[in-house]
Amino acid sequence: MRISERLARIKPSATLAVNTKAQELQAQGREIVSLAVGQPDFCTPINVCEAAKAALDDGFTRYTAVPGIPELREAVAGYYGRFYGAKAGAANAIVCNGGKQVLYNLLMALVNPGDEVLIPAPYWVSYPAMVQLADGESVFVPTSADDGYLVTLEGLEAARTDRTRVLILNSPSNPTGCCYTQAQMEAIAEWARRNGIFLISDEVYDRLVYAPFEPASLAKTWELYPETIAIVGALSKSFCMTGWRVGYALAHEDLVKAMTKIQGQSTSNINSIAQRAAVAALNGPWEVVDEMKQAFVGRRDLAYEIITGWGAPCPKPDGAFYLFPVLDKFYTADAPDSAAMCTKILEEVGVALVPGSAFGDDKCIRFSYAVDDEVLKSALAKVGSVLLGK
Ligand SMILES: Cc1ncc(COP(=O)(O)O)c(C=O)c1O
Repeated sequence: MRISERLARIKPSATLAVNTKAQELQAQGREIVSLAVGQPDFCTPINVCEAAKAALDDGFTRYTAVPGIPELREAVAGYYGRFYGAKAGAANAIVCNGGKQVLYNLLMALVNPGDEVLIPAPYWVSYPAMVQLADGESVFVPTSADDGYLVTLEGLEAARTDRTRVLILNSPSNPTGCCYTQAQMEAIAEWARRNGIFLISDEVYDRLVYAPFEPASLAKTWELYPETIAIVGALSKSFCMTGWRVGYALAHEDLVKAMTKIQGQSTSNINSIAQRAAVAALNGPWEVVDEMKQAFVGRRDLAYEIITGWGAPCPKPDGAFYLFPVLDKFYTADAPDSAAMCTKILEEVGVALVPGSAFGDDKCIRFSYAVDDEVLKSALAKVGSVLLGK
């Protein structure tokens, strides 16, 4: 089979090996607990499901406008007004198949061959592959557990060249759960603007931030400088809607048009029924999100206490539902890196985790705490027994 050179350059997902192994073990009848999941374990809120049912009953099953139905684009703009005080109109919003397609469309619309894209590391797995698909070059800006995995202006400045076109900032972060404050985000946006660098602010976890940390967003800064920033959002994580595939961007009208052109020639509109459901989600009520957040806070505290109890450096995350401890001191001759250690843990105690190498830091392993307390506690005890050799 002759596959394009473009695709040959893309590395297969580093998470695949662990997933394949987990499936193999399950097929053999082994019970596997997954702390590898990137989605909440709660159900999509009832009012959202009802809106979808009503859409079906109304026969709302045809093509829609590519960037989304007008009421959904209004609702997206309204969301940024309601939570962050940003003034935007429907023309500034586009709805895509998850945050993932938003990011893909943005990079396709912004990056020319050879352009450099700054990516603070550790990073979400798909950024480098998307940059590659857009013929750009990823330039990683390292951060460490000691700095709370937050990039500094000095770090960014050291990575900047004449070819830097885009910076992707992700807060709250997958895989670390760490968050930038509003002031830190604004300082980075100001640095990017001063240097003619377009800032993509991936805020797909923006509602999953735990008190006393305040949710932060560059939506208001976007309003002041719409030609230099795009905000990426999604209902996947905050509304437990991963399978519905609803993501959105807040962007300059011209950029929305460019993204619409790409989407119009690839996937067209997202699912019409999901769009009606998304209007219901974005227009509230929001109490369900707060209830879920409360559960996550308890789980974060539980997991943090156990993992740091192993003596593993790990900043306490203020958002999302992941912990990213530094575990390399536990690597062994038979498990000398994060992928091998994840395979060993899976084989020995049946717990699936994601190796840090998938996120650009082989010293770490990602733990998701989007499972219930008892499952979390027992899975962590098993992982601890492998790492500590007890
Ligand atoms: C940081 C980050 N950005 C974007 C996405 C994509 O989200 P979606 O599932 O809405 O495509 C994810 C999903 O895991 C993510 O973690």
